[in-house]
Amino acid sequence: MDRLIAELTPRGDETPDPVTSYLTDDRPAPPGRPWILISMVASVDGATTVNGRSGGLGGPGDRRVFQALRGSADMILVGAGTVRAESYRPPQTADDQIMAHRVAQGRAPRPRLVVVSSSLELEPTAPLFADHSIEDPLPLVATVTSAPPSRREALTAVAELVACGANRVDLTGLLAVLDDIGAGVVLCEGGPGLNHQLLAAGLVDELCLTISPNLVGGVGGDVHSLLAGSSLPIPARLHLDRVLSEDDYLFCRYLVS
Ligand SMILES: NC(=O)c1ccc[n+]([C@@H]2O[C@H](COP(=O)([O-])OP(=O)(O)OC[C@H]3O[C@@H](n4cnc5c(N)ncnc54)[C@H](OP(=O)(O)O)[C@@H]3O)[C@@H](O)[C@H]2O)c1
Repeated sequence: MDRLIAELTPRGDETPDPVTSYLTDDRPAPPGRPWILISMVASVDGATTVNGRSGGLGGPGDRRVFQALRGSADMILVGAGTVRAESYRPPQTADDQIMAHRVAQGRAPRPRLVVVSSSLELEPTAPLFADHSIEDPLPLVATVTSAPPSRREALTAVAELVACGANRVDLTGLLAVLDDIGAGVVLCEGGPGLNHQLLAAGLVDELCLTISPNLVGGVGGDVHSLLAGSSLPIPARLHLDRVLSEDDYLFCRYLVS
């Protein structure tokens, strides 16, 4: 009889190293756009925030996976809501193993940040801009032609602004721009609003989901989930590619069919 339930975490002698696993995954860019991978941490009941931030859900293994995923990316795409809620900072220099891998793949030392915002309610003095290393290209801010001119003006010295749409950033257009400037792998770090739009537009190739061993409650109320928005036109079918486990956490890698 076929086995209906596979053992996902066989207790062999070999412990898979999450950094090596995530760094060496194959991520071929589809025609005209980069490979898009979403990375999120969620509780068992689907909450992605505790007191408005994701930090309460993480753990040491999750942080290693997070670093490995950043290590595999040319750019990090993030919604302005997440930048504001999580007080985003410039990506740090990775550890030696990740740096060696980046160099071998011809990648820049650190991925470039791409923030999506219509309002441009981003403080030019925030650490994301103020702590930016002069060795790195400026963060990109993808915005719209209707963005307030004074806010655009305030950010021009600390970011490279690109307009992709009149009132909302056209994500397909933005990904074509990122493709043009050499991004092969783009890591989307959320939040739920941006994730939803990318999935609805069929632009997601991979989801790396950490399932945190917590129950939080409040999802659908004041607590965020993975996606913010109405039902997707068609549910996105996922293929489970790998599960790693540490300390009651599950690290799931899904590919989008
Ligand atoms: N658990 C996790 O792994 C995780 C990961 C990420 C975020 N989070 C949580 O998620 C929460 C934030 O959720 P959110 O839905 O507000 O976040 P979001 O998707 O990061 O941000 C939404 C904002 O992004 C901008 N935006 C998104 N799509 C746009 C488009 N097509 N065109 C123009 N602007 C666009 C808009 O910014 P403007 O308002 O500036 O126009 C919009 O208000 C935070 O509490 C954060 O902690 C959790």
